[in-house]
Amino acid sequence: MAHRSTQRHADQTFALLTDPYRRISRLFEQAGADAIETRLALKETACLRGREAAQVFYDETRISRAGAMPAPVRRTLLGEGGVQGLDGEAHRARKRVFIALMSPERIARLGDLFEAEWRRAAVEWAGQEEIVLYDALQPVLTRAVCRWAGVPLNPDDEAKRVSHLRALFDAAGSRGPRHLWSRYARRRVDAWLASIIEGIRAGRLAPDPDTAAYAWAWASADDGEPLAARTAAVELANVLRPTVATSVYIVFVAHAMQAHPAAARLATADAGRRRAFVQEVRRLYPFFPAVIGRVRAPFRWRNLDFPVGRQVILDLYGSNHDPAVWTDPDEFRPERFIDGSGDAFGLIPQGGGNALTGHRCPGESIVVELMERALGMLAGLNYRLPAQDLEIDFRRLPALPRSGFRMMTRRTSP
Ligand code: HEM
Repeated sequence: MAHRSTQRHADQTFALLTDPYRRISRLFEQAGADAIETRLALKETACLRGREAAQVFYDETRISRAGAMPAPVRRTLLGEGGVQGLDGEAHRARKRVFIALMSPERIARLGDLFEAEWRRAAVEWAGQEEIVLYDALQPVLTRAVCRWAGVPLNPDDEAKRVSHLRALFDAAGSRGPRHLWSRYARRRVDAWLASIIEGIRAGRLAPDPDTAAYAWAWASADDGEPLAARTAAVELANVLRPTVATSVYIVFVAHAMQAHPAAARLATADAGRRRAFVQEVRRLYPFFPAVIGRVRAPFRWRNLDFPVGRQVILDLYGSNHDPAVWTDPDEFRPERFIDGSGDAFGLIPQGGGNALTGHRCPGESIVVELMERALGMLAGLNYRLPAQDLEIDFRRLPALPRSGFRMMTRRTSP
């Protein structure tokens, strides 16, 4: 792509609310550049996309994260005081705790728990006229991840916990009452998990030492003292919430299996093709639109000046559809991943760079495992699709098929 000089654009806040995934990409196309300047919520903002842009964004000497995250996101999706807003050694110390939870054995254990809960739920699904997959997955994922993370889930509270965890990612990006619901849910989730942390510290609860609840209860702050219970709760929620949010990606797996039955059949029979299928779902379908930072030290890149303090956005969705990186970026082609997933800055639906030292998501192996397991479970499930609108609603955050993916799973008598 030619890198023509950048041009300024009018404030994009409203446009982003109506199309959070594709709006910025259109500006890149119009400008013929992958670095542009615009205004977002009245702030001068540099928007970047593509592999080289990701390298710039994840260069800690140039871009910092502390204080970059807008308050509405902290008060809902992320919580206050979590790893996302830290820089330098404080960030790395916190991040090590997450990474230590992700051994292959522990990930396989979560996959086993997920399959067991899916099988239990499928018995109920078989007695119902139809299910909405998106809604049906969240209790399954909540039960599995709470068990895995050492968080007790009282059956009387389960429906409430599921709806609060869901509200953190499903309603945060809405306006009006739904956004307020997400804020309320954040307070409830933090209070619940803080009481678990305190229960562990007081000896009332004794989760296994290899669980997230144990790790966060005993993790220390910079001064060597235990983390404040609320902060530990936010980090524990940073494990539970996104695992339940994998329901979005699993719906997309089902959507892609429906749209590409031949590729789905190959993926069912072969581990390499299954991985490639799942990676292509993560590349093609919209989920997390962008990440945000601030310029730490001034620099110039692609004819654009980055002064200290400038807000910078890396367009994740746009980068995963960048025609300079991906051939036929809007086509579903799992073959492109048959020889692996490439370098750390190409496929970046969950951020780029190094997950241990930078801000890249530490949960990618969980996500891939759960998506692969779900593909196998869906292939083995007896279902039909009723007439419905399966088009992806790009105005929604997170985007989803309009119907939520309705399935007729009733067991018919032989
Ligand atoms: C960070 C996406 C699942 C835990 C992130 C980031 C993205 C992302 C885009 C920001 C990267 C950055 O700031 O540079 C997703 C998506 C998921 C998912 C789309 C699918 C459901 C998970 C899971 C976990 C997890 C299962 C569980 C451990 C985290 C944490 C961070 C993070 C703790 C903050 C990392 C940091 O700031 O250093 N994720 N994630 N995510 N994710 Fe995920």
